[in-house]
Amino acid sequence: MAKTFDVVVIGGGPGGYIAAIRAAQLGLQTACVDDWKTAAGKPALGGTCTNVGCIPSKALLQSSENYEHAGHAFAEHGVQVKDLKLDLAQMLRRKDKVVKQNNEGIIYLFKKNKVAFFHGRGSFVRGSDSGWEIKVSGGNDETLAAKHVIIASGSSPRALPGTDFDDNLILDNAGALAIPEVPKRLGVVGAGVIGLEMGSVWRRLGSEVTILEALPTFLGAADEQVAGEALKVFTKQGLVIHTGVKITRATAKKSVTVDYLDGAGKEQSAAFDRLIIAIGRAPNTAGLDAEAVGLKLDEHGFIAVDEACRANLPNVWAIGDVVRGPMLAHKAEEEGVAVAQRIAGQHGHVDFNTVPWVIYTSPEIAWVGKTEQQLKSEGIDYRAGTFPFMANGRARALGDTTGFAKLLADARTDRILGAHIIGPMASELIAEAVVAMEFGASAEDIALICHAHPSLAEAMKEAALAVDKRTLNL
Ligand code: FAD
Ligand code: NAI
Repeated sequence: MAKTFDVVVIGGGPGGYIAAIRAAQLGLQTACVDDWKTAAGKPALGGTCTNVGCIPSKALLQSSENYEHAGHAFAEHGVQVKDLKLDLAQMLRRKDKVVKQNNEGIIYLFKKNKVAFFHGRGSFVRGSDSGWEIKVSGGNDETLAAKHVIIASGSSPRALPGTDFDDNLILDNAGALAIPEVPKRLGVVGAGVIGLEMGSVWRRLGSEVTILEALPTFLGAADEQVAGEALKVFTKQGLVIHTGVKITRATAKKSVTVDYLDGAGKEQSAAFDRLIIAIGRAPNTAGLDAEAVGLKLDEHGFIAVDEACRANLPNVWAIGDVVRGPMLAHKAEEEGVAVAQRIAGQHGHVDFNTVPWVIYTSPEIAWVGKTEQQLKSEGIDYRAGTFPFMANGRARALGDTTGFAKLLADARTDRILGAHIIGPMASELIAEAVVAMEFGASAEDIALICHAHPSLAEAMKEAALAVDKRTLNL
């Protein structure tokens, strides 16, 4: 006999678990099915983000930054560290502990909100306007019946064409977070978000890192001025970044040999002790038995949805990495909340124009809204205001003055159209711009707001003043 719910969520990542919690808060009988397991076979809720994504990468970014600071930055502050030693095993154990705390936190939240959790793979059996039957297999085998299904099955790493991951020398994101000793020569394919974050972690820990990027431009999605500054700083830090590269072969024996054509079309070969492949991710749709019920995919293999995350089948919804849009945890969460509210007959709201992007390198890079190059190509008349952290008192006190904050505002109305930050705590500073844009603020609004002194946020106020060419501290 099938267990009956109002909503069954397939996938327990940030999209799925948040959707399940919100649906339960709204009084809907809710179940969540997730198949992630630990090496010991135990459930590990939280999906890619918690297990092999956002959380462990940020734990290692913090630990490796602490190590680098202890080795190179503390002396400037008058703090002498003698016999500095890296305990990589402890660093990895701490990262695993942070992940486990998050896994357990989600189990607790499910209990608290009365979300029924089923460990195993969820697949469609049959369905109609009146409801859906979902089979759970490979864990607690069950059949669930539900009026609504939310698919939040996430994404998986893409392999380099012709080269499989081997979990030893040729690594995906999970492998990149668990290398047992610091590789002397580390190769990274893809200068995207994972390539830069994981490349930074291992460089700080002592690897010689070479990043091979297919596109001729570096960080093409970011504002050009930010990308230019980032390339300059990362190169100075020791990351070797080659753009316009075409990889012809990668072979693993004792080490990995990568043959490629460089930006000038010249044949090159490089040997690495490990190679991380970070060339984007593909939606997880296999295993849902979606074809059995006629679920429609788009031309890129994502589940086809409308603006409200409705799939082509009645009462079937899809959210997060498995649908169009940026592959970001907070975008998945917002869609999850919006869908749960729509199911409950309430309003759901996701503003794709104000989804922030953050790259957690040092300096951090964060942006929201339009870049200068986008505004130019769209023929929008704008004014730009930039303020360097070099002129910010808090940044000087921190000893971290790299980068700048930049605001772009409509030349006629002064409405903020984009914000671009490269510098300390950019991940936190961008929130002010997101709020401002969501409230339709002008640059003048930010310029008029009292910001605490000394704070990094004063750079945002000064950038807003710079839009009107009246900075105070420069
Ligand atoms: P996922 O988190 O992928 O979760 C999907 C879950 O569904 C998984 O547990 C999967 O096993 C399960 N599943 C799939 N199919 C089935 C099935 N048929 N039955 C049962 N369960 C199933 N984003 C950020 O915003 N900030 C960051 O700092 C950040 N860092 C990242 C770092 C790395 C290294 C990586 C790889 C990604 C990072 N991301 C980051 C991206 C972020 O992880 C994803 O955007 C986010 O996890 C997507 O959430 P989701 O719920 O859609 O899917
Ligand atoms: P990505 O899309 O950010 O970058 C992939 C890079 O690989 C691109 O620059 C692309 O041009 C390049 N590339 C593609 N094929 C190639 C090839 N054959 N040879 C060389 N280069 C090639 O994807 P990435 O880094 O894998 O991350 C996946 C997603 O995970 C990101 O898009 C992001 O949405 C999410 N993520 C978010 C983070 C954050 O928010 N801080 C951190 C890490 C991941």
